[in-house]
Amino acid sequence: MIMTEDAGVQVVRRATVVGAGTMGRGIAQVLAGAGIEVTLVDVSEAQLQQAQEDITQSLHRLVRRGAAPAGQPAEVLGRIRCTPHLDASIGPDLLVEAVVEDLPAKRAVFQQGASVLPETAILASNTSSISITTLAGAVPGPQRVAGMHFFNPVPVMSLVEIVRGERTSPGTVQTIVALAQRLGKSPVVVNDYPGFVSNRILLPMLNEAMFVLMEGVAGKEAIDEVMRLGMNHPMGPLQLADLIGLDVCLHILEVLHRDLGEDKYRPCPLLRRMVAAGLLGRKSGAGFYAYAGGRASDGTAP
Ligand code: 3HC
Repeated sequence: MIMTEDAGVQVVRRATVVGAGTMGRGIAQVLAGAGIEVTLVDVSEAQLQQAQEDITQSLHRLVRRGAAPAGQPAEVLGRIRCTPHLDASIGPDLLVEAVVEDLPAKRAVFQQGASVLPETAILASNTSSISITTLAGAVPGPQRVAGMHFFNPVPVMSLVEIVRGERTSPGTVQTIVALAQRLGKSPVVVNDYPGFVSNRILLPMLNEAMFVLMEGVAGKEAIDEVMRLGMNHPMGPLQLADLIGLDVCLHILEVLHRDLGEDKYRPCPLLRRMVAAGLLGRKSGAGFYAYAGGRASDGTAP
């Protein structure tokens, strides 16, 4: 990426991740893995406990495949402090929010963060679809707000989609680009627009796979196999929807449909039905496939 203006890159030493769900724990792990002291904040103690277990497992997995030295898990875990309090003790250089996909919830995190952090702190959102410009409008210093969109599973996926809001400063973008590179990721900068680039392209494909299933064109295994073997995708679209979470998929499609105003983004009725029934994919134990301990248990998906 070429930057014409040197707007001053800030070095992130101490960071805060708010939200200890799947994405928040992955983000905390990769930040701590790069030597950054991390405060992981979540209102739920149970969620924080589960996050520590998941991060430990993921770190050991990296050691087993030779991607990290044996001593690394203890070192990385030692850099992550878990707390239910978003107060003045949190990491002051950067706050990454990864809470539920809900504008008021995200806005509240940024406002509370801004009230306890220095005004130089960068406020980044891992949102998959909420407008960065709208979020930034709600906090003092909108120039320090940007999207820092990670992909699941965070320790494995190399992309970070960096979203520039209407008022995001070049310095903020450069700081997040430099940070993503330090995490060993590949940053790509895009402008704020519904679904950004990644989900604007990905979600219509997943949605279409659901229509294909609903219309009886093929069964779930056949649909996934066509895309895996014919297009060389690492997993089929229905398997991927289960990994992302069907509620998250529905939410992104609703944003695309509403904000771009085109019927091609209309969420598949089957998706709506499954979300209403609590079939949310891996995290709920069942979606298009059934899972036990995060792995497919019906012998049909990897
Ligand atoms: N932590 C550490 N390592 C992990 C891991 C984790 N959480 N998950 C997987 N790995 C490692 C494994 O150890 C393995 O390493 P190895 O190849 O050296 O043995 C490697 O990753 C592959 O894992 P598996 O063998 O378990 O399984 P697969 O080969 O099937 O890979 C996958 C799993 C990486 C998930 C692969 O199927 C894949 O890339 N799928 C597509 C994922 C994708 O598209 N993600 C983006 C979703 S969209 C999104 O997140 C945006 C949001 O806004 C919607």
